[in-house]
Amino acid sequence: MKKYYNIAMKNLKIGNIELEGNVLLAPMAGFTSLPFRRQAREMGASLATTEMVSAKACLFGNEKTFEILDTHECEVPCACQIFGSDPDVIAEAIKLPIFDKFDIIDINMGCPAPKIVSNGEGSALLKDMDLAKKIIKSAVEAAFPRPVTVKFRIGYTKDNIVAVEFAKMCENAGASAITIHGRTTEQGYSGRADMGIIADCKKAVNIPVIANGDCNSKEDFERIIDETGADGVMIGRGALGNPQIFSEIKGIKNQKSRKEIVTCYLEYMKEYFPEKRALLESRAHIMFFLKGLAGSTKVKTEIMKASNFDEIFCIINDFFNKF
Ligand SMILES: Cc1cc2nc3c(=O)[nH]c(=O)nc-3n(C[C@H](O)[C@H](O)[C@H](O)COP(=O)(O)O)c2cc1C
Repeated sequence: MKKYYNIAMKNLKIGNIELEGNVLLAPMAGFTSLPFRRQAREMGASLATTEMVSAKACLFGNEKTFEILDTHECEVPCACQIFGSDPDVIAEAIKLPIFDKFDIIDINMGCPAPKIVSNGEGSALLKDMDLAKKIIKSAVEAAFPRPVTVKFRIGYTKDNIVAVEFAKMCENAGASAITIHGRTTEQGYSGRADMGIIADCKKAVNIPVIANGDCNSKEDFERIIDETGADGVMIGRGALGNPQIFSEIKGIKNQKSRKEIVTCYLEYMKEYFPEKRALLESRAHIMFFLKGLAGSTKVKTEIMKASNFDEIFCIINDFFNKF
């Protein structure tokens, strides 16, 4: 017998911040910039964290990094993600005025990208728990009274699963919640996320646990809550091309056609980004919006060749008008 909890309506509390519900959009570099986060929030995402920014780059005043931290007024509460390997640099960055608008600060300890890991950042910290603890403590102090959360993987390799120990360390260091991606660093984004290990973490700590990995539908959401006992679920790739997943999970009735969803996304892109950035970033997104639709191969090629943003609008319009 299924023992799905009626948990979709449960509000997740992170420190003193209460979210509407417990289904979150995962940070995804190159995908979860302001327009898509806005769309996800409007479709019911309880929280949508910015993609990760480098603490060091923030201290250098890097303009591109600051752009990543642009937010929309609908993002209430509002969360950003930071990464780094130096506790003092992380603290100094969090104290910059640009971070004042964020209600929640998340620390990335899960990124597997070689250029990050080779600097001792992201998921490299799974191998240095003492340093990870110093970073979290330092961030907690700098962000006070705002909550700090940590997102990490279950371990670096399958022979060195550290999730439970790491989760306890995060709690002891003052983190207000943790998000656990149920894969190892060496797995990257392939293979299945291990929900059993997330369940072990949930039993080991008293702070909220957000489970992450392989949530592509309402059924997955219920299964993940059921298997892990987690307080919430974070959705990454399952939301790409399908931001409606948040309304479906929450039972919000705002059924929109695929055309309406893509068009809305494109309008937000046009509103916030200069032409070149809108063109480049929307190409990747549109591939997901068109996934599985009959006849979309030709239109995908046309989109890759489009030289300006208005052309993309026309191609999408023509394509959907044929349905
Ligand atoms: C293109 C891409 C970019 C990502 N960027 C980030 C990031 O900036 N910060 C982060 O914590 N995780 C990042 N992730 C990992 C996701 O947040 C998430 O943990 C992962 O995709 C697993 O969830 P899923 O199976 O629901 O996709 C990224 C993932 C993808 C696919």
